[in-house]
Amino acid sequence: MREINLPVTRYYGSKRKLVGRIWSEIENLDLAFDSVLDLFGGTAIFSYYAKVMGKKVIYNDIFSFNTAIGRKLIQQTSNDLSYEEALALLQPNPDYLYKKIIQENFRNIYFTDAENEQIDIFIQNANELKDENKRLSAYYILFQSCIIKRPYNLFHRNNLNMRLNYNGGNFGNKKTWERSFEELFERFLKELDEFTFDNGRDNLAVNFNALDCQETADLIYIDPPYFSSSRNHTTYHAKYHFLEGLANYDKIIDHINHAKNNKEITINKSDHFEKSATFLADLERIVRRYNDSIIVISYRNNGIPSVQSINDLLVLCRPDRRVHTLDLGLYGYALNKGNQFNSEFLIIGTNNII
Ligand SMILES: C[S@@+](CC[C@H](N)C(=O)[O-])C[C@H]1O[C@@H](n2cnc3c(N)ncnc32)[C@H](O)[C@@H]1O
Repeated sequence: MREINLPVTRYYGSKRKLVGRIWSEIENLDLAFDSVLDLFGGTAIFSYYAKVMGKKVIYNDIFSFNTAIGRKLIQQTSNDLSYEEALALLQPNPDYLYKKIIQENFRNIYFTDAENEQIDIFIQNANELKDENKRLSAYYILFQSCIIKRPYNLFHRNNLNMRLNYNGGNFGNKKTWERSFEELFERFLKELDEFTFDNGRDNLAVNFNALDCQETADLIYIDPPYFSSSRNHTTYHAKYHFLEGLANYDKIIDHINHAKNNKEITINKSDHFEKSATFLADLERIVRRYNDSIIVISYRNNGIPSVQSINDLLVLCRPDRRVHTLDLGLYGYALNKGNQFNSEFLIIGTNNII
């Protein structure tokens, strides 16, 4: 397996630790492909790996904050935002009348008052940047910094108190949450300098519900939300709605759910692939749409629906083509609540005729 340096991610379900393994399994099957569509792109790790491997890459995710990250890492080829420029975006421009949407609506929920003010100013300054390269770099460093400063790296609970009053065992966490935006921006800009590059291909990042995405490629990588059989399901929207709000700052005010303690921002909320009862039907629509492409699905055992039912769906939709279901082994070293080992699987629908 080739060692490739990858951006660090703190995103739920990121395949950062597994992508090398996933790529080798695909290569072992000797399938010919030149382009890749990463339909549930998330952190863009799979897309990034494919970009390093010289493929033409199309990244997609339902959320615009993720697509901004995809655009930065996959479509763009450099970072033009300097650290001084990033710091300047934290300063108010005296000629601009700033909205205080985060300060006024999210007090004591995710970030401190001072941080909320920084977020309001930074995002509005970033939105004014005419240079798309700099604007996407600004979004990238803001979104990554917001994630890293949150307990569990999530936004599904209004638990700022937990961060501020933390006296648990792992003080490493507390230290990370309290790092300033100024410090984190420096770190994430360095990351962008290291990881943006040109692979000589015309790569693209798009922002669709997977069911509506019109893009295609030789290989479709599908890494959808996963439903554990042992836990209540928290949707990706519930986990990251706040960042989706920041990516659509002018729409926030009309999309705050005031009935929820965490003031969920409802922009781009969708049930597709987020309800176990309809998941297989959603997946079938995609598998049938990409009938001529290689399909690679990442999934786990102990989930609903089962790995076997996804394998059966591929066989049903493409009875004349080979399907491989591969157990990649443990993804954590713990047993789950049912005392079964957690295992990561790949279900691959090839274009090889049986
Ligand atoms: C398991 S994660 C993908 C992780 C990604 N492979 C990585 O390594 O970071 C699933 C992704 O699907 C996205 N998603 C959820 N519902 C979607 C939909 N209907 N269409 C497109 N993307 C969706 C989520 O935003 C999330 O980023």
